[in-house]
Amino acid sequence: MDYASYLQLSRILSAQAPESARRGTPAHDEMLFIIIHQSYELWFKQIIHEIGLIDGIFGEDSVDEADLGRAVHAAERIVRIQRHLVAQIDILETMTPMDFLEFRNMLVPASGFQSEQFRIIEARLGLSRARRLSFDGHTFDTRLPEDARTRVKAEEEKRTVLAALDAWLSRTPFVEMGGFTFREAYGAALDAMLKGDIAMIAAHPQLSAQEKQVQTAALEKSRAILDALIDDARYAAIRAQGGFVMSRRALQAALFIFLYRDEPALQLPFRLLHAFMDLDEQMALWRLRHALMVSRMIGSKVGTGGSSGAQYLRATADEHRVFNDLFALTTFLIPRSAMPKLPDDVRRAMRYRFEA
Ligand code: HEM
Repeated sequence: MDYASYLQLSRILSAQAPESARRGTPAHDEMLFIIIHQSYELWFKQIIHEIGLIDGIFGEDSVDEADLGRAVHAAERIVRIQRHLVAQIDILETMTPMDFLEFRNMLVPASGFQSEQFRIIEARLGLSRARRLSFDGHTFDTRLPEDARTRVKAEEEKRTVLAALDAWLSRTPFVEMGGFTFREAYGAALDAMLKGDIAMIAAHPQLSAQEKQVQTAALEKSRAILDALIDDARYAAIRAQGGFVMSRRALQAALFIFLYRDEPALQLPFRLLHAFMDLDEQMALWRLRHALMVSRMIGSKVGTGGSSGAQYLRATADEHRVFNDLFALTTFLIPRSAMPKLPDDVRRAMRYRFEA
């Protein structure tokens, strides 16, 4: 065992074969282009590895509390990797569009669009086929080689991180415990807050009558959505229109966790939700940075993979979100001072106690 053999460096370091050199017209920047893509693929592999750990912990019908910390740690590690992946775009952008033109046409029809591992990450996290934007009228996997397409399909069959999170959240016991029902206590507190907000809008000296009307209507709409969060039939109607992806019970529990996160038993669940939101945000940031870089590199030319390039990519930043429902919950947060007080037995159930 030595450094080079353990890391199989001879294989890794001999895996850069610029196409421009092979064709006798060496382009200096092609080496950077290859190394950046290869390092992305290595990090994708690590992300899939971490997703495997999270899946193992959440895959069962009950989650051992002792394992929850490891799942949080893995999710937070994915986020750190993603930040690094977003930052790497800076390095690639030291290649100018003119330098890229030296070898770009030699790559056709290869494209990052054919990254099997990227598709596996999306699928394992929970981006379903139905929610994907069509790619110039085709499905996202059309350009994958047959064997890769089969493997991605197999990954799509597995239970996703989103589904596992949903199932786990839906089992949260504290939202209904003894005589306490979170939705009733919270509905009343939220009503009081919205009433205060509506009164503030009505009395605002700088808002026109029309602005007041628009803002009041927006608040009333939020109230209607919250009602849906506590009513099965209304929730099903909103969900059928693509309003929410997660189940009603899961979102209600997530809201509870956001609000009462200072309770000891909710601290790790809160960190987990927070990490999934960071993860979603970083993924969207990567998509956006990649789209901006693409428009800088190729303008409005069609991509080497054949798509309408930057336009398609920019749209995915908005549409290909996995944990977006958690962001929507922020609308329903109320200040700590207005939060309904939890009954003693519920609070006791959420505390740890050491008895000598
Ligand atoms: C000069 C740099 C780059 C350019 C001009 C570029 C261009 C494009 C274009 C135009 C697409 C849309 C599909 C197509 O028509 O080809 C695309 C997709 C994609 N690229 Fe890049 N890319 C670059 C660098 C990278 C890097 C470094 C990665 C890292 C792995 C990457 C990963 C991807 C992925 C995963 C997709 C599919 C995105 C989706 O469908 O949501 N690209 N790229």
